[in-house]
Amino acid sequence: MKINVKRVRESKLTKVNFSDLGFCKYHSDHMFIADYEDGKWSNFRITPHEDLNLSPACTTLHYGQTIFEGLKAYKNKKDEILIFRPDKNATRFNKSAQRMCMPTFPEKYFIQSITELLKIDKRWVPSQENSSLYIRPLMFAMDSYIGIKPGDKYVFIIICGLAGGYYSEPVNVKIETKFTRAVSGGVGFSKTAANYAAALYPSVEAQKDGFHQLIWTDGKEHKYVEESGTMNLFFVIDNKLITPPLGDTVLDGVTRDSIIILSKDLGIDIEIRKISVDEIINSLDNNSIKEVFGAGTAATIAPIKTIGYKNKKYHIPQLSRDSISSTLLKSLNSIKYGETEDKFGWILKLN
Ligand code: COI
Repeated sequence: MKINVKRVRESKLTKVNFSDLGFCKYHSDHMFIADYEDGKWSNFRITPHEDLNLSPACTTLHYGQTIFEGLKAYKNKKDEILIFRPDKNATRFNKSAQRMCMPTFPEKYFIQSITELLKIDKRWVPSQENSSLYIRPLMFAMDSYIGIKPGDKYVFIIICGLAGGYYSEPVNVKIETKFTRAVSGGVGFSKTAANYAAALYPSVEAQKDGFHQLIWTDGKEHKYVEESGTMNLFFVIDNKLITPPLGDTVLDGVTRDSIIILSKDLGIDIEIRKISVDEIINSLDNNSIKEVFGAGTAATIAPIKTIGYKNKKYHIPQLSRDSISSTLLKSLNSIKYGETEDKFGWILKLN
């Protein structure tokens, strides 16, 4: 892959307020772009981060053939840049592409485009505690066409944004039993815009009652919990860590997968099984639920402090320093920031 590079005249880095990074408020200077036409990818380039030129008839705006990913780069104490599990994102990206009837982007190009972009924007990987550079690859159809058919032209882009915390406090979530995020046979496992757009209305309704997020339940009976939309879910009940299985309605989260592997390694008793809403409510009623947290690239490990269900709010006890979620967060961070041996081969170090 030969990449043409056009650099910015002046970096925007000097305008960043590093004491208030927020989440992707600041985009890095450059972006990567490639075009798909006549059945192949070409025109690989790194340019200044800039607006795109789109036809109002661009099929993506009407019919939603669009997918994306999210991963992070970290800086270690030696100022080296570490990218966390980009191969997992590359695989998931292409699974999403297949489901959305889009071309795949070769995994080696996916990784190379990230590393080449980061070499140019390496000063944007922050070094302060708990911060990172969020990397957002995306692909969408570019055809100018009104009518339903898969696109012939696509664009693959990578942009980056500075990431502090996604949630600034433990999260309040409501168990959603009216609206549905995903159904079996649908696109729930795919990181496509439709899943997020469909979640907006119910989420905004829940926000009016003080909830940050929803816990989605299965689309058939609203009986089993699935995921939270920005995060996969974990519950500690009777000292067992439990997370719902994947199937085709739940996003195969990289943080979820890392937590499962780490838990087994740390000797934490973990079960991957269906969890019913009834089991959660009973465990809240009899105080056997000790921790609830979400896991996602943006959110990392986000403690949940309140669960709402049928007009009642259940409060989860405050977490101690030796809670399972704190132990997992420490352990995951020490790998991401290169403070411990990368025994699972999760880190891609930028040369
Ligand atoms: C991610 O965790 O990477 C996501 O795409 C979720 C989004 C809320 C930023």
